[in-house]
Amino acid sequence: MYISEKAPAKINLTLDALYKRTDGYHELEMVMTTVDLADRIDMFELPGPAISLESSSGLVPQDERNLAYRAAALLKEKTGIKRGVHIRIHKQIPVAAGLAGGSSDAAATLRGLNRLWKLHLSDAELAGIGAEIGSDVPFCVYANTAIARGRGELLTPLPPPPPCWVVLAKPAHGVSTADVFQRLRIDQIEEHPRTKAMVEAIKNRDYPSVNRHLGNVLESVTMKMDPEVRKIKEKMIQFGADGVLMSGSGPTVFALVKKEARARRLVNGLRGFCQQVYAVRMLGTRSEGVLDKIRTK
Ligand code: C5P
Repeated sequence: MYISEKAPAKINLTLDALYKRTDGYHELEMVMTTVDLADRIDMFELPGPAISLESSSGLVPQDERNLAYRAAALLKEKTGIKRGVHIRIHKQIPVAAGLAGGSSDAAATLRGLNRLWKLHLSDAELAGIGAEIGSDVPFCVYANTAIARGRGELLTPLPPPPPCWVVLAKPAHGVSTADVFQRLRIDQIEEHPRTKAMVEAIKNRDYPSVNRHLGNVLESVTMKMDPEVRKIKEKMIQFGADGVLMSGSGPTVFALVKKEARARRLVNGLRGFCQQVYAVRMLGTRSEGVLDKIRTK
């Protein structure tokens, strides 16, 4: 028997860094949501206790370094369960892109194995386990819309953002999140995002206000490492985006537009500058995004 879980990409509508903590992490305040660009994780029951993993992308590790593998191993350790699993990852989300692809794979693995192994753990319990794997994993367990504080693991749910199209463009090179945070100088941040105003905009389903309050303090840091980020932003505005922002630590940049025709125009315009371009719908909630069918081979 095997089950499948969809692992949607995350985008940041805001990302603010408040201070550097004594444990080396940054205290953050972020508004995060999901878009309809997703990996698919298939989990096959195995007769023995081993974990094995394969991925359709050669860009991610196919062994115990993969976050989905680590999720399965940690779940076994925490619950004492002796069962094995083969994990197959169908990768769609660009890697090292600021879209939490690896974290979402880990979260989908936790959700899937919770069902496959009938563990009856709550989302909160899965998120607690996920926090040991990476800062974005708890958000990805819920895969809805939320304010994330602390390292990113303290979540307050929000309603989904107003419906729109999201055009994502990933520059050729990836960046390491640790590298970007290391270069961030909190005392040199010129403008902090107005998180409260973004939350109000979402609650009021006020699309223009969501666009007005997009902000990410890591954007200028990553822009210095990769000039393509600025170029893509400029092109997106030129091609008619309503709002433009880099997601997470980048380097993926996204544009919000209301109409599908405008999204197509942006994709066509960007193709000359950037190889990885996607037009997808804003999701913001897990209910329609999860494949919850149990299949029998
Ligand atoms: O938690 P995760 O492994 O995803 O974080 C990757 C790196 O990003 C951390 O090692 C740290 O350098 C940086 N980071 C940070 N503050 C956060 C989250 C991540 O400095 N809140």
